[in-house]
Amino acid sequence: MEILKSFVLFICLVQVFEPIQSISHCTVEDATTDPNQYPKAEALPGMQISNWKDMILTWASTTDCRSGPIARVAGPNSWRISADWSQTLINFDTFAIRYGSSPDSLNHLLTDPKLWKGSEAVGKAGMVCSTTGEFFASYDMYDTENLPFKVTTSFYLPIGEQFYLKKITVSNQSPSKLYIKILSLLENGLKGSDFGPLNCPVQAVQSNDSTYFHMNMEKCGSFHIGGGEFLESKSFRTSTQVGPSTGSSSALSVFQLYSDGNGVSYVTEDIRVQAASVFLLELEANESKAIYSFRAAATDEKSLWNIMRRACERNAQDWIDLTAKSYENWFVSGVQPNVCLEAGQGFKNGNSCLDQDAAELFTKSLILMKNSQNPTLGLFASSFHTLYGWKAWMRDGCLQAIIMGEAGYLEEERKFLEWASFAELRSEWSGGGFHSTYSSWTGDVHDFVEPQYDASALYLLALSHYSLKSDDYRLWYERDGNSRAQVIEQLLLRRDYEKLWAPDFSIWEESSDPVTGERLPRKYYSFTQSAAFSALMAAAKCRRKLKHFQRAEQLEERARELREALERIFWQEEDRHYLRSIEDGSRVWLPNPYAADHRIDSSSLALLFFDVVKNESRKLDHLRTVQTKLSHRTWGIARYDDDHYFYDGIFSPCGCEARNASPPWGVTTMFTAMTEWMHVTKDASFANNVYGRLQWMVEHSAYGMMPVGEANDGVTGLFVSASTPDIYEYAGMYVWTVLFVQGKAWSMSPLGWSRVN
Ligand SMILES: *[C@@H]1O[C@H](CO)[C@@H](O)[C@H](O)[C@H]1NC(C)=O
Ligand SMILES: *[C@@H]1O[C@H](CO)[C@@H](O)[C@H](O)[C@H]1NC(C)=O
Ligand SMILES: *[C@@H]1O[C@H](CO)[C@@H](O)[C@H](O)[C@H]1NC(C)=O
Repeated sequence: MEILKSFVLFICLVQVFEPIQSISHCTVEDATTDPNQYPKAEALPGMQISNWKDMILTWASTTDCRSGPIARVAGPNSWRISADWSQTLINFDTFAIRYGSSPDSLNHLLTDPKLWKGSEAVGKAGMVCSTTGEFFASYDMYDTENLPFKVTTSFYLPIGEQFYLKKITVSNQSPSKLYIKILSLLENGLKGSDFGPLNCPVQAVQSNDSTYFHMNMEKCGSFHIGGGEFLESKSFRTSTQVGPSTGSSSALSVFQLYSDGNGVSYVTEDIRVQAASVFLLELEANESKAIYSFRAAATDEKSLWNIMRRACERNAQDWIDLTAKSYENWFVSGVQPNVCLEAGQGFKNGNSCLDQDAAELFTKSLILMKNSQNPTLGLFASSFHTLYGWKAWMRDGCLQAIIMGEAGYLEEERKFLEWASFAELRSEWSGGGFHSTYSSWTGDVHDFVEPQYDASALYLLALSHYSLKSDDYRLWYERDGNSRAQVIEQLLLRRDYEKLWAPDFSIWEESSDPVTGERLPRKYYSFTQSAAFSALMAAAKCRRKLKHFQRAEQLEERARELREALERIFWQEEDRHYLRSIEDGSRVWLPNPYAADHRIDSSSLALLFFDVVKNESRKLDHLRTVQTKLSHRTWGIARYDDDHYFYDGIFSPCGCEARNASPPWGVTTMFTAMTEWMHVTKDASFANNVYGRLQWMVEHSAYGMMPVGEANDGVTGLFVSASTPDIYEYAGMYVWTVLFVQGKAWSMSPLGWSRVN
């Protein structure tokens, strides 16, 4: 693997403009959802894949919103290693094609990788994962043209290895023979896509025999990337080439102009460079062929070559098999759900075993949860959608950690808590506690609506959950005796108005009016208050285990006080339901600065699923009110009355993705199912609702049985694209509810959490 020593320098400083995506308010008439669309026609618009050790690849569709402008080329758009999570090593890893009926007439040029698209038959070019660690997208259209063949690009991250596999499968779907020339093309990143253009040169070279490429990015940061093909592909390869990313010597231009790219072998130095391989496939009617490449990353050149050598020690299929084996081993280490043994069983038929679709959604939900975890820091990306900015919501992360523990993955739960136990807190003067969101890459604070105190309560709940489940209490201690648990307990012990806990903007983060944009005051939300109650009770349990009896009593006393205040203030005797919230008293000029918000809100079910309320008749009345007022598309449950988010609200990320107000959300549908199952002995008809809601999640998932985002359109059922996939809300809550209903997991209420030794 000798590298060409002499090289030509290309330094062309090109100003690169990133398209600025403007997200404008839209009217209902602009609704992007076509009523003829159905949920399963489309796979995911975003993906994150991890090697579970120190490397992450992310992927996004070519547009951020369904009908939005094209934002990028098809394929992965960021690749990072733990040496510096803030840097992306690539801008993209994509492909281009020329084809024709003979090798000399490859006249059909499909050479703008921004234009790859897919029909409904292939999930509209969205991303899918298999249960064996393959992540892929399929394309059978180029812009508006239907192609006579299908291209599937698959990515595999062999567990623990610092390289990934790119497989391109082309299937001739026409009745005649086709010659297809493929350019597999990668462009370097490094501050590129995230932080604007670079000013440091990157060197790209290719090996003598045109088998490997190497990009040296040391002038921008200590990174090297390289790649080549596996044996399986070598018979198809015609050349490897490197070049600047723009101009007539770029790999893409050479491919467009000369088709073969032969003879163009450069050593290139530029602020952005490309490396590519060209393959010629001869495909009989209906025939499929696959080519396999790898891409390796390291912080120094020697390690890079070692990783590349290691990749080449096996053939591609071996790595694919090894990856599948790692996934398999991971699944069997977790809790196994009951899978139906006979056809005609499952949610649809009123029982709790998983039919094939339900099981597939379960497994894929777990895969996304596992891959959402930053493997060195421990926090979880809440969504894989670019518009959600790779943020880790603290609330989501705490609940996801609990769910991973319930699913049998205590390592993952612990890893999250180890990060959270040292994550930056809000300053004391601003109220303390956790920030709302952190960067899923670096763990640094990410600006968002604050305060959201439920995040702090849920941290203590997750910490208690982990300790009670694993009997490991190490995180309750710290060198100076002032552990994170203690800090959060102090926060929970604070009394506010009428002995309630802190007012905030949780759970729905509305610091501004969703329609007018006017600033809103903080409120005492039933969700946050209930989360505080559950955290106090859970922490008290742990304190008793630790023999800190005085502290335990103090926490329990505070919980009782909170429960009493919530009953007294939030219960509406006449309307027979609990309030969503009351205002924080800051608008002193109003007749009642503590005015109640009477809208029915399914997140107030937290009063039930966290076991705050004891009175059975109140619980059933409240639950029935939620069922009656918030059901959409039969078993789906909306967040609250007159919810404009994803409809005509001004903050809806992709405009009107829902055709009416209060679209159903997966997370609140599962909150409701969880609550119903907790009360099924009081009303046997709830069992039917629970199966209905679980089946609803199966039916409202995406193409390939993939978990979707926050909401689904209440009219068509199609998932909203912004936030898809949402890891804790859809994947996580589905997994937890399935396991709870099957008697394999604890409920959300810590009052029942205890280990069976
Ligand atoms: C690489 O190319 C150089 C210059 O043409 C040549 O001297 C050298 O032998 C080649 N090495 C290999 C391994 O082919
Ligand atoms: C290609 O596949 C289609 C559908 O399976 C089939 O009808 C057709 O006969 C096949 N053509 C050839 C040439 O094998
Ligand atoms: C439960 O709540 C109902 C409705 O507010 C009330 O009439 C009843 O007395 C309560 N029961 C108990 C045991 O507190």
